[in-house]
Formats: sequence, C-alpha cells, structure tokens
Amino acid sequence: MLKIAVCVSGGGTNLQAIIDRIADGTLEDVRIVRVISNNHGVYALERAKAAGIEGICVSPKDYPDRAAFNEALLRALQEAAPDLVVLAGFLVAIPPAVIENFRGRIINIHPALIPSFCGKGYYGLHVHEKALARGVKVTGATVHFVDEDLDTGPILLQKAVEIREGDTPEILQRRVMEQAEWVILPEAIRLIAQGRVRIEGRRTVISGD
Ligand code: GAR
Repeated sequence: MLKIAVCVSGGGTNLQAIIDRIADGTLEDVRIVRVISNNHGVYALERAKAAGIEGICVSPKDYPDRAAFNEALLRALQEAAPDLVVLAGFLVAIPPAVIENFRGRIINIHPALIPSFCGKGYYGLHVHEKALARGVKVTGATVHFVDEDLDTGPILLQKAVEIREGDTPEILQRRVMEQAEWVILPEAIRLIAQGRVRIEGRRTVISGD
C-alpha cells in the first residue's frame, strides 16, 4: 500500500483525478492519507471531504512568519507519514526541511514541458499565457521529482498537447489538464506504487511491466 499526501492550493482537479483513479481501480494499493491546502476554503478541500479523506489547511496567514509556516507544513506532512508527497497544484515554495525529510519522495505536476515555461513566475494560468505569447505550437505537462530548486528535479513523465489557433490561456489550460495532467499524474503514482521508478542523478529510469 502506497500512502500518499496530496498538497493543493485551489480547485483540486488533479486531486480529483487521483481520487477517481483510485475509485475505479486504476490505482491499486494507493491510499490518500491526507490532503493539505495552504489556502482556506478552496474547492480541493471539498473534494477531499466528499471522498472521505482528511483535509487540513496550513495557511501562512495563520502563522507569525514564514519559518513558523514552514515548520507547520513539515509537521502536517510528518504526522500523515506518507510514502509519497504529491504536489497537485500546490503553489508554495517547498521548504528545504520538507525536501530533506522526503528526499526522492515528492512529485509535482507542472503545466508545461519542462525545461520550457517553468521556474519562477511560471505557475497556473501564467504558464499558458506565456506559451501562447511565445507562439509555441506544442505544450504539455510534466511530472517531476522535487529538489531544492524550482522545477529542476528529475523528470518522470511528460505528455505533449497541441496548441490551436484561437486558443485563450483558459482554453489551453483546460486542454492541458484533460489531455495531459489528469492522465500523467495518476500514471506517475501508479508507476511509483508498483516500485518501477528509480532516480539516477538528474534522470529517472522506469522499468517495464
Ligand atoms: C494545474 O494546472 C497544475 O499543473 C498547476 O496548477 C494547476 C492546479 O489546478 N501547477 C503549477 O502551475 C505548479 N507550478 P488544480 O487545482 O485544478 O489541480
């Protein structure tokens, strides 16, 4: 049984994709032990509740400074004792102590093909705005392991998505989610649950069925 903690900041459609794949049996031997949001009142917490999963909020607003928030976040993760931490639209800089405590056990979904359109300032809708402004014809999503820097950890899965004439950032965001994010994030968890993923330096190696 792979126990996962899912960290969210907003709507939680990626969280929902994981919940749905567990429910329909695609993700075997995987259990979400806790959902952690850094924002109060987000829909992702409703999704957790509806699925009977413990959801908690650890918001920087409830702590005197960043250090106290970082410590609370680490505690919230440690209490849940997950095998894997899944950042599913978690728009928070991951504190070094969290990375150290869960080294090689944190994955993130990013809405572009890393190393394009990633790093500081590239999150959520901004990523799609920038891809459209640059005029690329193909974008996509990436699941990668999290290390000390932003979007630099070993890449686990990527899926390309076509950009079409007339796309708005919102239309493109939806297509990237439907065609890529909601597919490769559960798939990455499945591969890890099956013990098929190995990190080798900056790369990952996925072993066969
Ligand atoms: C997703 O598109 C995810 O890839 C993105 O935030 C969105 C969250 O949506 N994450 C990042 O930009 C991380 N840099 P959701 O709450 O509906 O899953």
